[in-house]
Amino acid sequence: MSFAADAKIVIDSLIEFHEESVNQSGKVTNPVPMGYLIEELKLTSFITEGGLTNKNLTDFMKKYLSFSTRLYHPAFLGHQCAATHYSAALGALVDAYTNNVTAIYEMGPAAVSLEFFTINWMLEKVGWNPAPVNLNADNNKNNFGGGIFVNGGSLGNLTALLVARNKVAPEIWLQGNPSDLALLVSSECHYSVVKSAGIMGIGKNSIYHLETDLKGAIIPEKLSATLTKVLNNEKNPLALVANACSTPVGIYDPLDEIADFCKENKIWFHVDGAHGASALLSDKYKERMKGIEKADSLVWDAHKLLQTPSLCAALLVKEHDYLDKAMDHNASYLFHEREQQGIDFIQRTIECTKSGLGIKLFFVLASIGEKGLQEFIDRQYDLAIQSYNFIKEQEDFECPVYPQSNILCFRINGTDETQLKIRNKLVNEGSFYLTSTEFRGKRFLRMVFMSPNTKIQDLHKLIDKIREIYTEII
Ligand SMILES: Cc1ncc(COP(=O)(O)O)c(C=O)c1O
Repeated sequence: MSFAADAKIVIDSLIEFHEESVNQSGKVTNPVPMGYLIEELKLTSFITEGGLTNKNLTDFMKKYLSFSTRLYHPAFLGHQCAATHYSAALGALVDAYTNNVTAIYEMGPAAVSLEFFTINWMLEKVGWNPAPVNLNADNNKNNFGGGIFVNGGSLGNLTALLVARNKVAPEIWLQGNPSDLALLVSSECHYSVVKSAGIMGIGKNSIYHLETDLKGAIIPEKLSATLTKVLNNEKNPLALVANACSTPVGIYDPLDEIADFCKENKIWFHVDGAHGASALLSDKYKERMKGIEKADSLVWDAHKLLQTPSLCAALLVKEHDYLDKAMDHNASYLFHEREQQGIDFIQRTIECTKSGLGIKLFFVLASIGEKGLQEFIDRQYDLAIQSYNFIKEQEDFECPVYPQSNILCFRINGTDETQLKIRNKLVNEGSFYLTSTEFRGKRFLRMVFMSPNTKIQDLHKLIDKIREIYTEII
């Protein structure tokens, strides 16, 4: 048993997994009952006897990967998970093996520096001031941004709302939650936003859904009416949350106009860019994010469109001080005076032990450069438009909206149930992996172009396949 030998087995297995996915000799999904898999992978025997090394490891990896979903496969059109760039996966390995946690600078100076640097890179992409490296000189000023990598966009949204609450009700940690807080959210917001409000003790009755147009984008002209309702109910707006882009159909809210409204009415403007903020890297598509620099906070997931493994999401705040003071911490073994040569992230996070997440993004960025990521984003967004143009030509299919990202919804003529039956068949036989969603009261099939290997010809094949299944089930 040695690290080098076992690592070679694992890496060789992953290379084979990748090749089989790209050349389609392996199926995109291979769902089997869990009980069968527990037996097949010999889980009980391994945990009682050990021995996951050498030949056992080779056999285990082969089996494990044969039942894994293949995100590199051209037929992967499923959830918003990155087909990881191998360099980012190596970054994850370095983090796992060094295990230098990033909450406190002295526990992982290199990991924290990467995280700090990468957060600054993201802040600059948004148009916010990066933090100075020499924090001691400047850290009392609030004229630069701050950020933190968190375990996912959902946790990012929760943290963002805690930051907003710190501005609206700084007395919270002493007095408890005021009962008049309200949240204004897009009717198409991700469920994590409403869930975060619930966690913070803001009930559903205090959530005001903003009116959206037929695409599902917030209508700026209707914002005042909702705010009037909030104020008439003697509520205090905690924040307004917009999408960049929405989860079901990938539509961007008009950030520029919404930002002006929030500024005028002194409301914290949080943008949930978990999926679509990566458009900031694209000359072609960054217009979708117009006005983002006027927001107060942004969630931007690297583990969606930046080819970075889960989890790696950034919460960015225009004025770092609100983030630094959002939570009231007290632990004498952590929070005390010490000679500092770098930043502690711990005051910005719900977590205590915190793995190095920034290294994963840094590795892909440093491997293919911003240009490589930009080309990837352009390619995936272009593919959604090409697919829309193709589907629009098919008389028996429809798309509810023109795509603004790499998400595209569509359906074949027929009932909601038909769409679900088709999806089940595709996923269970492992020919294509796609999801489905409701939009404007109808069920649609939903594709997210995440694999760098999907081509327009694969979409042609999918449409033929759906027709075939449709004929079978009708
Ligand atoms: C707009 C939006 N916000 C938040 C999330 C949640 O992000 P995560 O899955 O990283 O928690 C998603 C995920 O699909 C999303 O699309």
